[in-house]
Amino acid sequence: MKIALIGFGTVGQGFIEILKEKHALLAAVYGFSAQIVAVATHSRGTLMDPHGLDLDALMDAISQGHLGNYPKADGVVRDLPVEKIIDQCGADVLLEASWTNLKTGQPATDYCLRAFQNGQHVVLANKGPVALHYQQLADAARAAKKSLRFEGTVMAGTPSLTLAKEALAGCTISAAKGILNGSTNYMLTEMERGIDYEDVMDDAKAKGYLEADPTADVGGWDAASKAVILARSLFGADIGINDLDVSGIDVLSADDIAAAQAAGERYKLIAEVTPQGGSVKAVRLPLADPLAGVGGTTNAITFETDLLGPVTLVGAGAGRRETGFALLADVLAIRRQGFL
Ligand code: HSE
Repeated sequence: MKIALIGFGTVGQGFIEILKEKHALLAAVYGFSAQIVAVATHSRGTLMDPHGLDLDALMDAISQGHLGNYPKADGVVRDLPVEKIIDQCGADVLLEASWTNLKTGQPATDYCLRAFQNGQHVVLANKGPVALHYQQLADAARAAKKSLRFEGTVMAGTPSLTLAKEALAGCTISAAKGILNGSTNYMLTEMERGIDYEDVMDDAKAKGYLEADPTADVGGWDAASKAVILARSLFGADIGINDLDVSGIDVLSADDIAAAQAAGERYKLIAEVTPQGGSVKAVRLPLADPLAGVGGTTNAITFETDLLGPVTLVGAGAGRRETGFALLADVLAIRRQGFL
């Protein structure tokens, strides 16, 4: 499978690390082998080689701060604009793993549409295009007869969307509710241990859990974008981020958290969505509530179904390899579906 990777930050690097580590297993068990034919970043250069880039050299180059450090080699084209890369790289699949922009979803949305025009499948870890332009992307995928997948946009590589859309196909899901933001759940857990808000935020940033703009996490907007992705992709609901009732953990003080603890309760940032709308807000839960026991960057989601009742999934919600894996899961699914 020839893969073009847009964005080479935490998630893109996590994906390449997994490919390097699991190369032999993926070939032996799934008959899968990948060639990375292009990598594009916003400010750290771009590389294209339709015959495949060397993964060790790629990781070395980015660890030195710029793809320009990739060794000289025949066939490697440097610093092409992303549009030209998409047109010329010959990829089967475009992976969009650049920073989420929840205001416009650009330039990633245009890259995805261009990939469909070029007959490429599209996999996103970037939430902006899916939260803001879901219908346009779904229509373009259908017109191109290509796959559009975005498992990494909700609960990292924990298969929330695949569970709901594939394993639970045939059930009617009436609501989804849970903890959908890893960084704030981690922050709340650490703050309960008495660690200061600013310190824990620096820590979460260093670990790669937070968005480029952390106000998206602490203000509840990241969880809201995930609620919208669920509403659109599971319910076909015409709901946008601004239709939700959103607040975050930035309204909580250390005293609020201590008061909840003293009362045998715990704050959690809970997202809830139905076909009619939804909300994100910090809620005080009794310790006996199953969601109160979900700590650190772990996320949880409960789908209310007609045939099974509530179905709950708990797993990683953020992180380098945790989200890098989502890209791998989606490309393996594209292969399993017989597309490639
Ligand atoms: N900033 C996001 C979170 C990353 O903390 O959940 C994963 O979407």
